[in-house]
Amino acid sequence: MSMNVKESVQRRRATRALDVRTVDVDVIAELMEAIRLSPSCNNNQPWRVIVAYDPVSLEAIKSSLSKGNSWALKAPLIFAICARLDDDCKLNDRRDYFLFSTGIAVGEMLLRATELGLIAHPIAGFDALAIKEKLGIPEDHVLITLVNCGYPGTDVSMLSEKQLISEKERPARKPVGENFFNGRWGNHWS
Ligand SMILES: Cc1cc2nc3c(=O)[nH]c(=O)nc-3n(C[C@H](O)[C@H](O)[C@H](O)COP(=O)(O)O)c2cc1C
Repeated sequence: MSMNVKESVQRRRATRALDVRTVDVDVIAELMEAIRLSPSCNNNQPWRVIVAYDPVSLEAIKSSLSKGNSWALKAPLIFAICARLDDDCKLNDRRDYFLFSTGIAVGEMLLRATELGLIAHPIAGFDALAIKEKLGIPEDHVLITLVNCGYPGTDVSMLSEKQLISEKERPARKPVGENFFNGRWGNHWS
């Protein structure tokens, strides 16, 4: 499947019914390339990514998911996204860019995954310290997110009512008038 950017932005969803079918390594390589080519401050490329698709690494991660994220137990592929403060620009006014650059990289990967027909669902609900320990992630790195990847599935038995609703419908977004300003802070976009 090939999509233009507008389509992949529109189609990208954080749905949760994943199929257990494995993702080929050449498809995994495409996702890695989307991360690799993304922009970063001074081209610092602060992201460090553990690509987990072997049973041992996957189990290490899956044993430390929050209860609400049990749906991710089905994921055949999980990207553990890490970064360290000192690996990207640190400028005045709290402009520490390591999470920002890494976030852009993940965003680009989510769009490429969408184009490839995959669900790529980032989560924050997990025991980061436990996973860091199990995967050997150094203490000074932040394990920011796990991106659970897989082809769309049909098993919704692990989903809460709210999660079930969001399978079908994208959760509502704020209207542009709420968090976009026209030219100056406080001039709400209308
Ligand atoms: C940083 C971050 C953390 C998230 N954490 C979780 C999570 O722990 N569990 C979950 O099911 N979804 C998680 N999500 C997915 C969001 O709930 C989802 O993106 C949001 O509801 C909008 O839905 P959409 O992506 O389908 O448009 C997370 C998304 C992001 C970007």
